[in-house]
Amino acid sequence: MTTLTPILTKFWDHPRSWTLATYEENDGYSALRTALAGDPADLVQAAKDSGLRGRGGAGFPTGMKWGFLPPPDGGPRYLVVNADESEPGTCKDIPLMMAAPHFLIEGVAITSFAIGCHHAFIYLRGEVVHVYRRLMRAVEEAYAAGYLGKDIMGTGYDLDVTVHAGAGAYICGEETALLDSLEGRRGQPRLKPPFPAVAGLYARPTVVNNVESIASVPLIVGRGADWFSDMGTEKSQGFGIFSLSGHVKHPGQYEAPLGITLRELIDMAGGMRDPDKKLKFWTPGGSSTPIFTDAHLDVPLDFESVAAEGSMLGTRALQIFDETVSVVRAVSRWTEFYKHESCGKCTPCREGTWWLAQILERIEHGRGTTEDIDKLVDICDNILGRSFCALGDGATSPITSAVQYFREEFEAGCHTPAAELFPPAAATLF
Ligand code: NAI
Ligand code: SF4
Repeated sequence: MTTLTPILTKFWDHPRSWTLATYEENDGYSALRTALAGDPADLVQAAKDSGLRGRGGAGFPTGMKWGFLPPPDGGPRYLVVNADESEPGTCKDIPLMMAAPHFLIEGVAITSFAIGCHHAFIYLRGEVVHVYRRLMRAVEEAYAAGYLGKDIMGTGYDLDVTVHAGAGAYICGEETALLDSLEGRRGQPRLKPPFPAVAGLYARPTVVNNVESIASVPLIVGRGADWFSDMGTEKSQGFGIFSLSGHVKHPGQYEAPLGITLRELIDMAGGMRDPDKKLKFWTPGGSSTPIFTDAHLDVPLDFESVAAEGSMLGTRALQIFDETVSVVRAVSRWTEFYKHESCGKCTPCREGTWWLAQILERIEHGRGTTEDIDKLVDICDNILGRSFCALGDGATSPITSAVQYFREEFEAGCHTPAAELFPPAAATLF
């Protein structure tokens, strides 16, 4: 039985959890002192040894990413924190920044020292003005206390931190679109390679890391890489914040070692909201990951186990739906989101998400054609792996998995042959 490990969430219920005073009472900034007294290379090694993998969804090894930066050439190198949390269901970074922003700021300072950066950026989702204010205040506090700015803690190390609020586009969570946006351009993904580690912000070496990844760094430095790697599973080490939403009694953020199961988490969340209703489907990692059903309640929530069952751990955004919910309706809502957020750069995603939304809308309202389910799957096949970035691929995941598990619900909305609904020329289009 896995138990909760409140670490990043430990003092979230303190009445003034976000202040520097509360953070310092909880050992805050002592890891920065340790880090600045040592060798940056040791910090990169500690990140590697801890096994920390990117908490933004992809799970790329954090220490390895830092190690990809080319050797210093005298020019600037940057740390950019991806705080553009926007995935439907994902709600861990925003509460973390609201409740305990100094974890992030201390992590920014340690990571910047480790990679030789003197100007770090936090790119925040545009709509969350309250988080922007909270972060700005915390950054000001850290400057005033000498944890940021010139000659930090008398070590001679200088670091400036800029908090930048985007304009509210989901695509700006894609790291290269984020960099374009930060540079003042329209946020659209860049071709990779080169990866940001080689040519990122202003074409300089740049580490882009998620909020939760960076907030975990002070804990790894303060308590040791072994402390971190002892938690979790063999290949998915450490802990993470699991966000439970939907039909559970107590939705919210639950911090636990990777490898915990949904069954355990639902128990911790007080059970299903209506105990007489069965769990029907859920997302393991936000709406861009293939859905799971009640058959997956005991899948360990680590990168490998979730992948072995055909989905992705993603952002650990566990959206839980009971048997009262129409899966077609849920998938249709998510697809509307992707259609709206598609940046338009590549045809499969720009056109395909629009077609998918049209078809799902008519199936949802019982106006689907007998050809529509195959057409849905065919369009998904033509988006997956053919889009310029992960947004297009992600848009297809809930659809194909929902058809796989609940085909009869889609069939229930599809009665009329296409030829009867559309004139022949239009039928080939839809
Ligand atoms: P990715 O797997 O392409 O890259 C992951 C990271 O590793 C990137 O920072 C990339 O630069 C780096 N990387 C990979 N190979 C590299 C190499 N050879 N050299 C240097 N660096 C390398 O994944 P991507 O597209 O960055 O993220 C997709 C994930 O984002 C999805 O799995 C999804 O779960 C998540 N996501 C999260 C959202 C949120 O709101 N937090 C929103 C949408 C998606
Ligand atoms: Fe833009 Fe979608 Fe193509 Fe990504 S997949 S580049 S979001 S159109």
